Amino acid sequence: MTEICQKTVILKDDSRILLRRYNEEDYERLWEMLSTMSHESFRYQIRPTESFYKRWITDNKNVVFVGVYVKKTEKIVAEANLYTQGHKAYFGIYVHDDLQNLGLGTAFIKYIVGVAREMGLRKVFSEVAVQNRKIIHVCKKCGFEIEGLLRMEHEFHGELLDCYRIALLF
Ligand SMILES: CC(C)(COP(=O)(O)OP(=O)(O)OC[C@H]1O[C@@H](n2cnc3c(N)ncnc32)[C@H](O)[C@@H]1OP(=O)(O)O)[C@@H](O)C(=O)NCCC(=O)NCCS
Repeated sequence: MTEICQKTVILKDDSRILLRRYNEEDYERLWEMLSTMSHESFRYQIRPTESFYKRWITDNKNVVFVGVYVKKTEKIVAEANLYTQGHKAYFGIYVHDDLQNLGLGTAFIKYIVGVAREMGLRKVFSEVAVQNRKIIHVCKKCGFEIEGLLRMEHEFHGELLDCYRIALLF
């Protein structure tokens, strides 16, 4: 795979966050971040068990990225991934509750889209609950379009929810 560039972004509260590829040494800090996210942040996601997450993160089709606080604590505050499937990749993203609404999600999606282009992919997409207005807003800001409605597609907390398939082609 081509060399993946890292990038520092400055948030609305002036925090500096380094976006870069995940490495094995990040694991404990990354799991700490995910396991301290609120129920609200997992309202439209399945909260992974640690055994599932450990397998998922080492799947060789999966390219995982982290957002790390620069200088302050080196705490991991965000994770995004590209799960490659031939010419395209399914993406996911989590920004820790403490840093949401400061521009990190938008910057991180733009970053992984840039990486996907560098990797020679042609399409990045995801399936998001229709009720998850925030990720839909952020994706549209980054140029994504809704490709279709998937009815009763995913079960979250015992409820079968409709999802949009949202995609960016390049
Ligand atoms: C969705 C998520 C990644 C966004 O990250 P973030 O860092 O909070 O996003 P940003 O700060 O870049 O942007 C948030 C935008 O959403 C807007 N927003 C906030 N709440 C909203 C809502 N309920 N409906 C619509 N827009 C909303 C904000 O005003 C902001 O828009 P603006 O930049 O045009 O003012 C983050 O909230 C998260 O991790 N959520 C939980 C997990 C999740 O849902 N992941 C997506 C699955 S792929």
